[in-house]
Amino acid sequence: MRYVGRLTLEGSVCGKPQAASSLHTYHVFVRVATSLASKPLSYNLQANCLQYKQGLSEIREECQELVLSDGQVLEIMKRLLTELNRGLSKATHDTADVKCFTTFVQDLPNGTEKGKFLALDLGGTNFRVLIIELGGEHHFDMKSKIYAIPQKIMLGSGKQLFDHIAECLANFMIEHDLSSERLPLGFTFSFPLSQRGLTKGYLVQWTKGFDCSDCINEDVVQMLKDAIARRNDIQLDVVALLNDAVGTLVACAVRSYNCRVGLIVGTGSNACYVEKVENVELFEGDKPKPYMVINTEWGAFGDNGALEIVRTQYDREIDSHSINAGKQLHEKMISGMYMGELVRLVLVKFTKSNLLFGGKGSDMLFERGTFFTKFVSEIESDKRGTFTGCRQVLDELGLSHATDQDCVNVRYVCECVSRRAAHLVSAGVATLINKMGQLSVTVGVDGSVYRFHPYFHDLMVEKISELVTPGIKFDLMLSEDGSGRGAALVAAVACRDR
Ligand code: BGC
Repeated sequence: MRYVGRLTLEGSVCGKPQAASSLHTYHVFVRVATSLASKPLSYNLQANCLQYKQGLSEIREECQELVLSDGQVLEIMKRLLTELNRGLSKATHDTADVKCFTTFVQDLPNGTEKGKFLALDLGGTNFRVLIIELGGEHHFDMKSKIYAIPQKIMLGSGKQLFDHIAECLANFMIEHDLSSERLPLGFTFSFPLSQRGLTKGYLVQWTKGFDCSDCINEDVVQMLKDAIARRNDIQLDVVALLNDAVGTLVACAVRSYNCRVGLIVGTGSNACYVEKVENVELFEGDKPKPYMVINTEWGAFGDNGALEIVRTQYDREIDSHSINAGKQLHEKMISGMYMGELVRLVLVKFTKSNLLFGGKGSDMLFERGTFFTKFVSEIESDKRGTFTGCRQVLDELGLSHATDQDCVNVRYVCECVSRRAAHLVSAGVATLINKMGQLSVTVGVDGSVYRFHPYFHDLMVEKISELVTPGIKFDLMLSEDGSGRGAALVAAVACRDR
């Protein structure tokens, strides 16, 4: 047989060149040697290699459900557009899963904004306080401090959460000698808010592992003000409340005047874009300004079934073990909070069906949450054909018995999961770009997945190019601290307009 011949004559296994000293070769030869005792040589080699080759193609076949076809991508775009329009329309907003919230951001900065601003950035496991001085002429000076939000607070009461925020803020102001000043503050609050004004927003639902009680339908600015009043040691003026996607758009708009989309692919995922005010039915009253930034909250796309055409057993498992089952289904297929766990679930399945690691997993592999999303980036950062990052990750997970071929396969699984995320995000971005119909659009982007994954940007550029209306030009711009500087900029524009 062809494969047997290669194994013995060319030092390769099933057509894949192998280093003689590799663990993998060792593993194969041990397997072969052990079975030689009872069966004729040719039979054993053939059986081994066929089983091996079969494992490879089976992995690719099993991963097929994670690969989006062109047809599926186009269908997703169509469905997302329908949901965006349902979110914007008064008649369907309440039942729409993509809410398209008004942000009350109607003017973008031009770089000449000046002043000293505080900013709060709450949206992930960390929370930041910043002091930013905008000096006009695109100049700014920024100092910030990161504070942890313990799990106990993420799942505690709203009062505990806002007391913790106020305490960090007070400490920061004392440390930076600001406690005697009354400064304007921009509050980046990166959860779905039904905004009723630039400084009023009612929490619709928690996402990203937060579940504080007594916050739903409450105005988060009021909760912050109440917590500050309870302390009675600092003073400030909340002049703007915004989402991180909005901050990202605004921060990039200073550098690129045609920035019209803000995108986050980090712990969570979301996008905002510039919409004609006449299409924003939920915005009542006078409409003298022609545009408004819309916070799509596209993380909830699919919550009414629109993504069932592409969701897999792994997505269902992630969802059923989350604290917000049935919610944020699009986000759960994309963002950093879930990507590593998705990969782990696929690896577990393949190990159990004997396609990986010789069927032998490890306690760590079988434990929820052990495969961090940064592992996906580390594994895919290996030069193709080398396994340094991959082996480090697998060693950490107690899988040092992995063969080189296992490493190839693990990387393949990571690629399928991250590509699918990049393609879903691209479908979303292209839908927004096509909907706006502008000839040239900059997309401001932030978030750990986009920043640290070695190919996410390239995958997106490639896919969006295929999907945008011919003639439209676009570029993706990495934001410089959208949720911090963006908050100061929105605050500055708000102060200017007062
Ligand atoms: C939130 C959004 C946020 C996104 C990125 C999602 O879970 O609902 O408001 O923009 O995460 O941080």
